[in-house]
Amino acid sequence: MNIASAGALGPRLGAGREADVYACSDGAVLKLYRPGFGGHRTETLALRSLEDRGVAPRLVDVVECDGRTGLVVERLAGPDMLTLLQRRPWRLYALARSLAKAHLAVHRVQAPAELTGLRQVLATRIRDAALPQHLLDFVSRLLDGLPDGDRLCHGDYHPGNILLAADQAAVIDWGAATRGVPEADHARTLLLLRWSDPLPGTPLVSRALIAAGRSVLAHAYARDYRRGSPPLRQTRSWLVVHAAARLSEGIPAEEERIIGLLERARKGIA
Ligand SMILES: Nc1ncnc2c1ncn2[C@@H]1O[C@H](COP(=O)(O)OP(=O)(O)O)[C@@H](O)[C@H]1O
Ligand SMILES: [Mg+2]
Repeated sequence: MNIASAGALGPRLGAGREADVYACSDGAVLKLYRPGFGGHRTETLALRSLEDRGVAPRLVDVVECDGRTGLVVERLAGPDMLTLLQRRPWRLYALARSLAKAHLAVHRVQAPAELTGLRQVLATRIRDAALPQHLLDFVSRLLDGLPDGDRLCHGDYHPGNILLAADQAAVIDWGAATRGVPEADHARTLLLLRWSDPLPGTPLVSRALIAAGRSVLAHAYARDYRRGSPPLRQTRSWLVVHAAARLSEGIPAEEERIIGLLERARKGIA
């Protein structure tokens, strides 16, 4: 199939590091990856394993266009959860509940064998994180003690990657999916909710509101996830390992806080 069969391209809905997303004329979106990125393989594998689970849009086709691979995906009408949290903050608890519920549903899915193991991905990212030697040693030892798993892990599960149509949550953006244990994927979400920085340029007042809202959201999501899950193991260790790996994403505003978190974890301070 070539790009023409995806229907005429409409407006661009998103532009990330790896891909652009366009509306198509026929009720689908086209996620067109830039050359040199492998996320389309991962996203294809993940979306196929999620078919008929009711937690992700349907993958319609995979197309080629000028050396770029595109995923044609069912288009969902609703806004993303981040936008909704900003528009209707009083719905925070209900939204936290659907954030946890959809994540638990993802973790009931067995990951395709071809997906890379999460521990392997983390080991590479930690090596790329330019950590001081004592923290690299600490985090590497921590990662060595953590288990492999066979569950589908999203890899970047946060409210911006959840679309809500008719109050049904659908998870998008599967380019960082891996095989692993649910606690690991859950810990990355806790890290993003509690620690990641608002985009540069966000005014101070909004920053304060975002920080307060996030802390409540993180708390409610953690509680609802825990309630629906078998007992969670080593979530804190996974969070520390994910924090170290996050440094490889090169977000200067987060560096000092993350290093502080790692130093405290190394000294055994909660
Ligand atoms: N299936 C979909 N239905 C409707 N909009 C979508 C869909 N997939 C992606 N989008 C839109 O495109 C944006 C970017 O998509 P996403 O897969 O999250 O890529 P990235 O965050 O890597 O740029 C989303 O925030 C959303 O606005
Ligand atoms: Mg996204």
